Amino acid sequence: MRDDVDAVETGGRRGIRVIVDPDTAGASAAVVRDFVRAEPRGVLGLATGSSPLGLYRVLGELTEAGEFDASGLRYVALDEYLGLPAGSAQSYRSVLEREALEPLRSDPARLAMPDPSAPDPAEEAARYDRSIAATGGVGLQILGIGRNGHIGFNEPPSPFDGRTRVVDLAESTRRDNSRFFDSVDEVPRRAVTQGIGTILEAKRLLLVARGSAKADAVAAALEGPIGEAMPASALRLHPDVTVVLDPEAAALLAVHGS
Ligand code: F6R
Repeated sequence: MRDDVDAVETGGRRGIRVIVDPDTAGASAAVVRDFVRAEPRGVLGLATGSSPLGLYRVLGELTEAGEFDASGLRYVALDEYLGLPAGSAQSYRSVLEREALEPLRSDPARLAMPDPSAPDPAEEAARYDRSIAATGGVGLQILGIGRNGHIGFNEPPSPFDGRTRVVDLAESTRRDNSRFFDSVDEVPRRAVTQGIGTILEAKRLLLVARGSAKADAVAAALEGPIGEAMPASALRLHPDVTVVLDPEAAALLAVHGS
């Protein structure tokens, strides 16, 4: 198991460390371990989707081997679907409990999330935003990136000072996420997401992207214009970001190797 980050780093982006490594799970697990060493009782922000699954698997293996201790951590979620049937296996609470908390041997009560069954989703989103602040702040927020450059479910265009709120999912996002459902019709049309302003308040950010389908969005986010049309470009406004890419996701970066 890797204990350090020793892969290729690329330069030229203030505040952003870019690691290109075929083993995105190992490289990103090293970042999470550094965080937990520094803040064993910290708040870890969890993302859903396929990008962090390898990371959660590696952290689970380390937990099993007695080399990682998540017992002091609390968790917050990045987002949650609205409108799924109660108890759906695709709700982000179900996914995070199954894919992250179980391997980390963490009680589901330690995970704060928006409640999709709340009668007023907008009020629930605002409550959730306040509850994130009430944790004392997120120490490390894990992120993936959509093919359209979304982070969380902040679809383009999204305000950089946006708070946690109800959003409509882009059709491209619904199509991409239909792989987790029997058909695209079952993919929710709305979600509650941490806003970009909320995400940027985390002390550290860790974005993981894999595969050539993400290469355009990664290059635009890290090297294109910074603006609301490319939500992930907001990362360049944050002082402490690590981006972990496999070579396919990094392929269109102009600055590639330091
Ligand atoms: C997940 C989330 C999304 C995903 C993004 C990438 O909680 O907020 O932004 O991170 O859609 O998804 P994957 O990793 O499945 O390619």
